[in-house]
Amino acid sequence: MQILVTGGTGYIGSHTVVELLNHGDDVVIVDNLSNSHPIVLERIEIITDKRPDFIKADVCNFEKMNEVFSKYQFDSIIHFAGSKAVGESVEKPLLYYRNNIESTWVLVELMEKYNVPSIIFSSSATVYGQPDINPITEDFSYQCTNPYGRTKMINELFLKDTTVAYPNISAISLRYFNPIGAHESGLIGEDPQGIPNNLMPYITQVAIGKLEKLSIFGDDYDTHDGTGVRDYIHVVDLAKGHVAAVNYLQEHKDTSFLAVNLGTGIGYSVLDIVHAFEKIIGREIPYQITDRRLGDIATCYANPKKAKELLNWEAKFDLEKMCEDSWRWQIKNPKGYVRSNVF
Ligand SMILES: NC(=O)c1ccc[n+]([C@@H]2O[C@H](COP(=O)([O-])OP(=O)(O)OC[C@H]3O[C@@H](n4cnc5c(N)ncnc54)[C@H](O)[C@@H]3O)[C@@H](O)[C@H]2O)c1
Repeated sequence: MQILVTGGTGYIGSHTVVELLNHGDDVVIVDNLSNSHPIVLERIEIITDKRPDFIKADVCNFEKMNEVFSKYQFDSIIHFAGSKAVGESVEKPLLYYRNNIESTWVLVELMEKYNVPSIIFSSSATVYGQPDINPITEDFSYQCTNPYGRTKMINELFLKDTTVAYPNISAISLRYFNPIGAHESGLIGEDPQGIPNNLMPYITQVAIGKLEKLSIFGDDYDTHDGTGVRDYIHVVDLAKGHVAAVNYLQEHKDTSFLAVNLGTGIGYSVLDIVHAFEKIIGREIPYQITDRRLGDIATCYANPKKAKELLNWEAKFDLEKMCEDSWRWQIKNPKGYVRSNVF
């Protein structure tokens, strides 16, 4: 199949492109490189022995995307491109509403024009906000607590409405829990700009001496050790979930819209992750407990049953492997992609 991957040089996108190429699909990446580096394309080629087509463009640019759609006949789209930092979305809602919503609008408009039958959308467990109970199933109500989460919810509602109005288009919204880890080659991984927002890159940067110590936001939550519990999933497992979703829509063309959790179903606390990582590197990670962070919740983990039943997909990699691969990526690329010492 010929697949358009928007945001395909980013963290989850690059791992998904590898899985698609390994699966035998042809891939066209559109990315404006606002949060990624073009060297990713070389790394993908080293891993897979194939080079995806790459177009540097903004997905919100209708004319440019029209050119792309007129050049290729896509069988499916995986739409990763977007802005993803919760804190930044509170400060810059204009950027987030434009980038995260207009991009999907452009794609669906062009899918209708060029007869592209399916789209897989990158959603997030953040649409569940502060759930009363765990594990979380897909029928829980939307309870978004920030502009980023609301852009994901609006995208889902938009896809629901458009797939009803245009029965030739199908959509699956994949609600990711907490992706960590990296490809086991150590060639691609998460490369945050500045101070990381997420736990694992923070831990690896402390371990390598780039940051002094980890701040853990609150140890008085109602969890087994007082620190927040999340559902961490290996990014390669997550990537394989996208291949499964594309294949599902290929075989079930009468689908309109589906929302599916991608998680492991296991909750680990911040301290569980720190201790698992310490085991891998054989030394302690310095940390301090600070105040709770506004908007953080105690516990959030998925019920992954729907993904298993519908997509025949389930996460395979355990926490040890997630930590090992995160660490390999960090030591091979101590400064990220830009000044990497791998080549
Ligand atoms: N990483 C997570 O923890 C997480 C969790 C849940 C959902 N998501 C969602 O998954 C998707 C991918 O996340 P990621 O972690 O790989 O992020 P990322 O920032 O690494 O990748 C996003 C890519 O999209 C590109 N991009 C952004 N806006 C664009 C635009 N208008 N046109 C073209 N390219 C554009 C960036 O340059 C980047 O390469 C995002 O939609 C994000 O909201 C991520």
